[in-house]
Amino acid sequence: MGETVKFTLSEDRIPRSWVNLLADLPGDPPPPPLNPQTGEPAGPDDLAAIFPIGLIEQEVSTAPEIEIPDEVREIYRLWRPTPLFRARRLERDLDTPAHIYYKYEGVSPAGSHKPNTAVAQAFYNREAGIKKLSTETGAGQWGSALALACELFDLECEVFMVGISFDQKPYRKAMMETWGATVHRSPSDLTEAGRSQAEHTSGSLGIAISEAVEVAAGSEDTNYSLGSVLNHVCLHQTVIGQEAIAQMEQAGEAPDVVIGCVGGGSNFAGVAYPFLRRRLREGIETRFVAAEPAACPTLTRGRYAYDFGDTVGMTPLMPMYTLGHDFVPPPVHAGGLRYHGDAPSLCGLVRGGLVEAKAIAQTAAFEAAVRFARIEGIIPGPEPAHAIRAVFDEAEAAREAEEERVILFNLSGHGHFDMSAYAAYFAGELEDLEMPEDELEAALARLPEAPALA
Ligand SMILES: Cc1ncc(COP(=O)(O)O)c(C=O)c1O
Repeated sequence: MGETVKFTLSEDRIPRSWVNLLADLPGDPPPPPLNPQTGEPAGPDDLAAIFPIGLIEQEVSTAPEIEIPDEVREIYRLWRPTPLFRARRLERDLDTPAHIYYKYEGVSPAGSHKPNTAVAQAFYNREAGIKKLSTETGAGQWGSALALACELFDLECEVFMVGISFDQKPYRKAMMETWGATVHRSPSDLTEAGRSQAEHTSGSLGIAISEAVEVAAGSEDTNYSLGSVLNHVCLHQTVIGQEAIAQMEQAGEAPDVVIGCVGGGSNFAGVAYPFLRRRLREGIETRFVAAEPAACPTLTRGRYAYDFGDTVGMTPLMPMYTLGHDFVPPPVHAGGLRYHGDAPSLCGLVRGGLVEAKAIAQTAAFEAAVRFARIEGIIPGPEPAHAIRAVFDEAEAAREAEEERVILFNLSGHGHFDMSAYAAYFAGELEDLEMPEDELEAALARLPEAPALA
């Protein structure tokens, strides 16, 4: 037998609790979300119309760990623990002294990390007596995950899918329908929010969120479910990093750098926060790199300010880097990365210098993803392709520095439903769309009135 490539854990090693990094953050507590009407901190009451109490408690919790309910762990068994790979073939191909590891979340039934939180969210909603969940989806990964979770917990599921992805990915829709969900193209004419944004025919995550929130707010037994950004979503994803810590121990190494792509921040948080907690508690030196698309450069070019989480302005104001809530990002093929804001927890970490942010152009991401697929076999989703590009850059830097740098990244999903994007790349049709400065300034000028953030 040659050297180990795959590090696996038995089912009894599925984590028993989620890691709440907020409890370990140094300095002042992060700024609270605000009620846009009163300007006061948004409390549980502001969230109760669309979220169940179990998730609201997690959203504001300061406990360092939160126990995973047995029913959720039972469902996690369907695909967890996920494997950790050592990309030995890639290391040789890149001719780098770096050791490259990746945690692969594409083995879940929906094909990404998203079911880790979808299952938890469906569980707490069912516990609260809710009958239906509404949500948005970009690339279709989140909608598929929630459709699956609702099916498993006997809930109805209604999904507003960003128009351009709806057109590009008919099979994602069929997948959601297989798991019993109803899927609409967004903007739709079913909601006020959708009708008000009809001219943005390609849609955006911000618009689809407004539609889904409106549906939930208008019905007693319907709640809304968000696939990223919020504290409880990032929390649920920490099963990824906790397993990775155990698997890296099996491999006898610890990462010098942890890399993930960022749409709203949840898969990045999932892989990074357990390692970040170790750094904060035990002083283990580790760098963290968040890779975002150059066409939707929230962390690298956005403003740190209070802004709405959706386009129409129905959510609490959140302290985050933002490109402006009514900014409609250009139609890059990584649909899951087209969001104007990011998780407030991640934004605070970038601002505090604990996490580095890097913008990646989409052709560079696809070039890296194709090389990865040809060497390692797995065809990455366009979202983690951005992380892979950042990994290549680290591996090259390690070669130049002649350093045996240990790199860990999260391969958050496969690209089997994204082959039209690969086809566009092979046909030379992918463009590197940079956000023009004047458009950014104009979007930022429309930020809501709120206290400035220090
Ligand atoms: C495979 C995959 N990775 C990453 C993301 C980005 O989301 P997040 O930053 O919340 O992980 C998405 C979003 O849909 C996705 O489908």
